Amino acid sequence: RRFSTSAMRAEAIKCVTVIGGGQMGAGIAQVAATTGHQVVIVDQSEDILNKSKASIHKSLQRVAKKKFADDAKAGEAFISEAIDRVSIQTDATNAVGNADLVVEAIVENLEVKRQLFTILDKAAPQHTIFASNTSSLPIKDIAESTQRMDRFGGLHFFNPVPVMKLLEVVRIPQTSDETFNKLLAFGKNLQKTTVNCKDTPGFIVNRLLVPYMVEAVRLLERGDASTRDIDTAMKLGAGYPMGPFELCDYVGLDTMKFILDVEWLTLRPTMQAAGVSITEVVHHLYNTALTKMKRFMPNIIFLDSLDQ
Ligand code: 3HC
Repeated sequence: RRFSTSAMRAEAIKCVTVIGGGQMGAGIAQVAATTGHQVVIVDQSEDILNKSKASIHKSLQRVAKKKFADDAKAGEAFISEAIDRVSIQTDATNAVGNADLVVEAIVENLEVKRQLFTILDKAAPQHTIFASNTSSLPIKDIAESTQRMDRFGGLHFFNPVPVMKLLEVVRIPQTSDETFNKLLAFGKNLQKTTVNCKDTPGFIVNRLLVPYMVEAVRLLERGDASTRDIDTAMKLGAGYPMGPFELCDYVGLDTMKFILDVEWLTLRPTMQAAGVSITEVVHHLYNTALTKMKRFMPNIIFLDSLDQ
């Protein structure tokens, strides 16, 4: 083989800049640091960044307590080595000068993300890969603000990042194979299990998880069961670690709303173009399902209309 593994390794992602020091950004920075990467976290103020570092420290203590249960000294070394690999910056353009990878985890606002990436595109070296941790916006819409769509992808982490083993790696049509493979390799280096997904609303997990959480809200709204009983039911009856309401709180109602707004916005233009309203779509789906159900279950009496 002409390409040696050491040459491949030389190209591996070593320096990571995480933009956004909130819960997700701090978690991503932590995991990157504990797996040997040099990390810079960027946020708007020293105050926020100090809070990010404090939350990383606290989380590292929880990890160390488990990982080095019989060796407190090794646990301390693990924590301080990880902390030493993390630096903080308030100037995003300065922070990407050495970056092999930039992971953005800021507010779920398309315009703000696009403005950020337009600036970073001019400041970062040619080889730097850009990734967004967005849970609700199309990666393509964010990537279009740059001249490096071939070096752009999605890295969608799950909360709490140090504990959840999954990483969704998302590609847009323009993402090069080289970029995508590097993102997958980065995920594996973080000791995450990666799954590949196209740039589709909700990717895999949120596409399935969010409707389930919304259905729990509907169940409550109809007065069918209490929040406590719904949570208990899903924990004990389906083996979920948290019930849907507990999970809504954990993910954050603001994030839930962003995801729902965007899924609705993604559907709306298609429906408007076809000249249909959401009510018509729901009625159509109901009628189609009704026709099928009547065929297979002739003895059951169904409502013939949603309005009854
Ligand atoms: N950092 C480090 N370790 C942590 C941690 C953190 N932030 N949070 C929990 N842990 C560790 C604890 O130390 C503990 O370790 P141990 O087993 O050695 O004691 C272990 O995880 C379990 O924690 P707890 O005992 O405190 O509590 P639980 O057993 O209830 O676990 C949980 C907490 C891991 C959060 C679990 O409840 C869970 O998996 N909940 C579901 C989370 C989930 O579904 N996340 C995905 C949300 S969707 C998303 O993020 C996508 C976005 O786009 C919306």
